[in-house]
Amino acid sequence: MHCTGRAMSPETRNPGTALVAGAAGYLGSGIVRALKAQGWRVVGLVRDTAKADCVAALGATAIVADVRDAAAVAAAARSTDVLIHVAAGGDPYVAEGLREAESIRVLGARNLVRAAIAQHVPRVVVGSGYWVYADQPGIIREDSPVDPWGEALVNFHAELAAREETNSRGSPEVIIVRPGMVYGNGSWLRSVVDALRAGTYAVVADGTNPWSFVALDDAAAAFVRIAEAGTAGETYNVVDGRPAPWREFADHLADRLGVRRPASISVEEAARRYGAEVARHLAARRACTSQKLEQLGWKPRYADYRDGLIPVLASMTR
Ligand SMILES: NC(=O)c1ccc[n+]([C@@H]2O[C@H](COP(=O)([O-])OP(=O)(O)OC[C@H]3O[C@@H](n4cnc5c(N)ncnc54)[C@H](OP(=O)(O)O)[C@@H]3O)[C@@H](O)[C@H]2O)c1
Repeated sequence: MHCTGRAMSPETRNPGTALVAGAAGYLGSGIVRALKAQGWRVVGLVRDTAKADCVAALGATAIVADVRDAAAVAAAARSTDVLIHVAAGGDPYVAEGLREAESIRVLGARNLVRAAIAQHVPRVVVGSGYWVYADQPGIIREDSPVDPWGEALVNFHAELAAREETNSRGSPEVIIVRPGMVYGNGSWLRSVVDALRAGTYAVVADGTNPWSFVALDDAAAAFVRIAEAGTAGETYNVVDGRPAPWREFADHLADRLGVRRPASISVEEAARRYGAEVARHLAARRACTSQKLEQLGWKPRYADYRDGLIPVLASMTR
């Protein structure tokens, strides 16, 4: 069943107005849809007017502004109840791109918290990712060891920056969200599907390392649930509850697409192809649990990627 646990927590806030930075993005547009479905008014921050039309089509009020522009963010935050940061950009694996990625994620996080202080917005929700966790055996909870690098380090810096910016009374409340691999029609899944079809996809090493997944709609519903009922200062993992070895996921996807299962390559070969930092991510073990989030009443509609992929793959052929 989809996330419908609204009555379970006495602290649940009524839908008000949410500002989403990155509203036209993969995660952001899903969050806008989920907020609208729960009765929220939504202000979507976008970078250009073309994207503004997409966001308006989702029922949100689009504002064209750069999340790094403090004054514009403060103006956009006026009369809102929660600010959600999923704006991202730049390639963190090349020097210039890393600077851009850091500025969008980190300065963006600071600007949102400063805007919340200036406009008396009580809550800021900062999207991050489960890649901040160290490669480790066993089940990963929010207090498990972290060891962020590459894109994960940028996200981790955004987490720290947002927490740093809250004032001494802990206001606004800052909540961090760490989704696993968010699968939907776009982002990394689209690239993997294209590469599998082209016969160029490869699994690193034996692929027994577990990854954690969550369907896009479920991840978006989690952001809404956290905006409404999350505990101040907390961090929440957002995963479907069935971590799976990467080889299993890739083979299943290939079977569903009716293409050849991918070959394996060594970590050294992956480092040559994708860079050492990406290769490390691909080979890392990150089996997460969302137990803390489930205590807020969130339940993924798709508790297993094998069910969740069915509608996603059907939508990709259209
Ligand atoms: N995708 C996943 O599976 C996943 C999983 C876990 C965590 N995350 C994290 O979630 C965040 C968002 O990821 P995503 O996949 O949704 O990325 P995305 O599709 O690239 O969306 C990012 C959005 O931010 C916008 N943006 C970029 N620079 C901006 C700026 N300066 N001011 C305002 N908006 C700006 C982009 O605008 P344009 O559309 O104009 O480029 C884009 O719409 C990232 O931190 C990512 O690491 C993603």
